[in-house]
Order: sequence, then C-alpha cells, then structure tokens
Amino acid sequence: MAKFPKSRLLKCLALLLLLSLFCYIYVKSSANSIPKRFTSLPEDLYKPVSPLSYKYLLNQPNLCQRRIPFLVLMIPVRLQDRESRAAIRKTWGQENLVPNVDIVRVFFIGQPKENDPKHQEDLQKESKTHLDIVQMDFLDTYHNLTIKTMMMMNWLDTHCPTAQYAMKIDADIFLNVPYLVDYLQNQAYKQDYITGSVITDGTPRRNKYSKWYLSEELYPEDKFPPYLSGAGYVFSVDLASKIVQASRFVVPIPLEDVYIGLCLHFLDVQPVFARTFLPYRNLFEIRHLEYERCTFAKRIIVTGFTPSQLIHTWSDFQRDGFSC
Ligand SMILES: *[C@@H]1O[C@H](CO)[C@@H](O)[C@H](O)[C@H]1NC(C)=O
Repeated sequence: MAKFPKSRLLKCLALLLLLSLFCYIYVKSSANSIPKRFTSLPEDLYKPVSPLSYKYLLNQPNLCQRRIPFLVLMIPVRLQDRESRAAIRKTWGQENLVPNVDIVRVFFIGQPKENDPKHQEDLQKESKTHLDIVQMDFLDTYHNLTIKTMMMMNWLDTHCPTAQYAMKIDADIFLNVPYLVDYLQNQAYKQDYITGSVITDGTPRRNKYSKWYLSEELYPEDKFPPYLSGAGYVFSVDLASKIVQASRFVVPIPLEDVYIGLCLHFLDVQPVFARTFLPYRNLFEIRHLEYERCTFAKRIIVTGFTPSQLIHTWSDFQRDGFSC
C-alpha cells in the first residue's frame, strides 16, 4: 500500500479547515449581517410608499378576469412615453406572440409634474383603445419609482392574483418572449421564485451628487442584500402580496430595485441568477449589446433600446428560418 505522508495529510486537513472557516465567515458577513426589523414602520414612513395612499386615475380591474395568464408584463413608463408604448405593443408586448400562452401587458404611469389636460385626455383615449394602462395620482419622478413598483405589486395582487408569473420590465428593453416562456415552462413551478440579473456586491453611494445617493440616515448599513437589476426580473405571482406585506417593515428608499431586494431579504427569499454556464451567459443582459440575431436568440433581455431601434431589431429577429 502506498504511504501517504502524514505531514502532508495534516497540511491538507489544516488547509481545508481554514478554507471552510473563510467560507463560513464570508457567508456570515455578507447578506445575513443586514439586520431585519420586525416592528412595522411608523405611519409617516410607510404612508408615502403604501399603495393605499394613492388613487387610480385609470385602471384595468377586469384585465385578468376569466383567464389565467401565464405571464403578466408590467412596464413602468411616464405619460409622455407614448412612442415607447407603441413600439412595445408592436414588438415583444403584442398579444398572442406565443401560441396558447396567455400573456398580459400593462403599463404603469403616475402623474406628470406639468399636468396638461390635453395630454391626460390623449392618455385616456389611448387607454380606451388598448386597455393596457394603469395610472395613479402620485408624482411620476425618478425618485418615486419605488412607489410605482409597490403600486405594480399591489395591482398584481389585487387584480391578477391567478396569473402564474409576472415580469417587471423597463420600456427600453429588448425582450425575447419565446425564450422566456420556454425557460419558465421547462422548470417546475415554485412559489417564492424570483429571477433575473442578481447583484450581490451592491453598496450605497454616499456622494450627495450621485443619482443613486442614499443617506446614512435612510440606510445605515454599508452594503445591500442581493437584489435584482431593475431593468427586468421575473417572479412567481404569490410574491406580489408578500412584497407588499414586507414593505410595512422596510424603510422606503428611492432605489426601487434595491428596495425589492430589501423586501426579499425580509422575507428570506433568495433571488435566483438566470444564467448559463459553458458558455457563461447572463440571460438578463444588463449591458447594451450590439444587435446580432444569434446573440439575442440566447438571451432573455438586452437593455438600451430606443423605440425605433426596438422596432427595427424586432423585425429582423422575427424573420423566418434562422438557426443559430
Ligand atoms: C413622490 O410623490 C408624492 C405624491 O405625489 C409627492 O408628494 C412627492 O413630492 C414625490 N417625490 C418626489 C421625490 O418626486
């Protein structure tokens, strides 16, 4: 029998021990170190983010009645983004894109700063024609996107709870709907499921002039729990009501994607990174990639499209008979 030197064995063991210790410390020190508070927020903190604080100016309460949608696409836009809405309706947001798969499309809008009655009238007409607009009466600004996100979750829970999956997706995104549907259909349906591009090393910006500035008063911790890039993420619809419930305990911050991450952390729900290995691919691509049919065929989203780029890209993507 070949003899394995004892000293070597010991060294190996010591190394292994050290390694596991590091892993343990690392895991302990990451997400788990962010404390949770289990008393609900004082009214003045919760009220601004509570969907009950605002009222609907336009709604589609019956959109999901007498059907069980497979997927609800929830797209935050501003009133003036008419061109984006038109492009989405003609491309990835069109109905009956995937045979026998029921997909619902809803745009979520707040109230613009300059409230032009003419623009509001046009929106009303658009809403009557397309039946895909939900509007609430909070000020539609970048810093209020957290409010909009909670409004979407609340709408989903109230008006579309029988749907299986929902996706929050920005308007400037290319969405490969058939790939997404396949991806979801090829796995067992589970609750508490949320997937996209997971960011594990997020930290708050303390520079007052940053677009993403966060004061220590609002968020004293020096890192974020894992969260999904807000460009696009997909989740099982049961999470909508859980996130709305969680938000009663989580101090609202103006970073909507991090805020959802904080609610998930409160709920002990781990976001799942949608990626492939060999070759490595982030399926929710948060860089902008130059359009190339076969590159896009293997991704769920790609970011950074103007409405006309979207229409242009889509028409090529839909061309028959391509193989990659
Ligand atoms: C957010 O919306 C509320 C309600 O309309 C408004 O009072 C507040 O000024 C808005 N906040 C920002 C930062 O735009």
